[in-house]
Amino acid sequence: MRIRILDTPEQIAKEAADIFAAEVKKKPDCVFGFATGATPVLLYTELADRCKSGDISFKDVTTFNLDEYCDLPVSDKNSYYTFMHENFFNKIDIKEENVHLPDGNAKDVEAHCKAYDEAIKNAGGLDIQLLGVGTNGHIGFNEPAKEFSKGTFKVELTESTIKSNSIYFDENQMPRSALTMGIDTIMSAEKIVFIATGENKADAVRKMLQGKVTPLVPASILQKHKDAVIFIDKAAASML
Ligand code: GLP
Repeated sequence: MRIRILDTPEQIAKEAADIFAAEVKKKPDCVFGFATGATPVLLYTELADRCKSGDISFKDVTTFNLDEYCDLPVSDKNSYYTFMHENFFNKIDIKEENVHLPDGNAKDVEAHCKAYDEAIKNAGGLDIQLLGVGTNGHIGFNEPAKEFSKGTFKVELTESTIKSNSIYFDENQMPRSALTMGIDTIMSAEKIVFIATGENKADAVRKMLQGKVTPLVPASILQKHKDAVIFIDKAAASML
């Protein structure tokens, strides 16, 4: 792991954008894994600005998102499909057919999850996977568990995740389950760019970087990745 502690989330967005920009310049048809949440929004804005100015293009890029809520129409304001389009895809020159998110409304969940992992493989695998972290150490929607997950799967969300994410939903409207890339899917990426900002992530960051590798802190698996760049701001690093 390469750990970069920077003063502000804005600085992180610029440095992380440099990594994605360098990849797409080197390999215009690269495959990116993207993440949702408040954390990556600055990075998406930075990348969209660079695309608008002509510095980079996503026209041959393929993307796979980490996760999606179950039983929520894609048109819902809180679906990750909507989030990604509003915050990023509608602002860049990516082709819609190259954009992939798990389908939280798939009828045959198992077949869909298998097909999602196959599609990643058939696209050539993930060149860079972007990650944030939940306050309980989850990555994607891999919640603390007895074992590390493997491929994409359906997960029941924990109370702590429901509490954190329900601020976006009307009362009791927050879905209780989601589809997420598994830990093996995430770890198969050639490179991982991880971002955590703010004091509320400090405990998860401490456990992930300084604790032992355990499925009870899913993000701790990144200690074992061959090329993970860990961006944290001063606030998120405050318990290290
Ligand atoms: C959700 C997503 C995660 C994300 C986490 C943290 O649970 N599934 O991928 O990392 O939220 O989000 P935020 O950046 O808003 O703190």
